Amino acid sequence: MLNSLYIVWTEKNDLGIPILDEQHRGIISSINSLYYFMHAGQGHDIVEPTLKTLDQYVYVHFKTEEALLHKAGYPEAEQHLVLHRELVEKTRKLSFNIERQQDSKLLLKFLRQWWLGHINQEDKKYVPFVKQLMKQ
Ligand SMILES: [Fe+2]
Repeated sequence: MLNSLYIVWTEKNDLGIPILDEQHRGIISSINSLYYFMHAGQGHDIVEPTLKTLDQYVYVHFKTEEALLHKAGYPEAEQHLVLHRELVEKTRKLSFNIERQQDSKLLLKFLRQWWLGHINQEDKKYVPFVKQLMKQ
């Protein structure tokens, strides 16, 4: 369905931390573009840069989030970083064979599940710590 978004952002995904919420929305937006281009059959010349954009966006986002977790003294920061590294590795692995329709579906499904799950379960755990830091 080209007239609907793959992931619709709702306020319940917000952490209440403006920079992180903004970046999360950007990541979801890139995933939606990826879905759109894959389904519009626009081919590799646009899918490839979209994947690169997502990869770079995720890099910047994780750098931002990880610095905040350390500054805030979040006790589970190290475990959280491991989850980030796993995402990067799995995304790259799944992006490898993207010309096959089956594989592109797998990648999109993984991205949607991982990001919504991560934001709502893992990221929400650090919110009180980062909010405390931002008050200072
Ligand atoms: Fe995170």
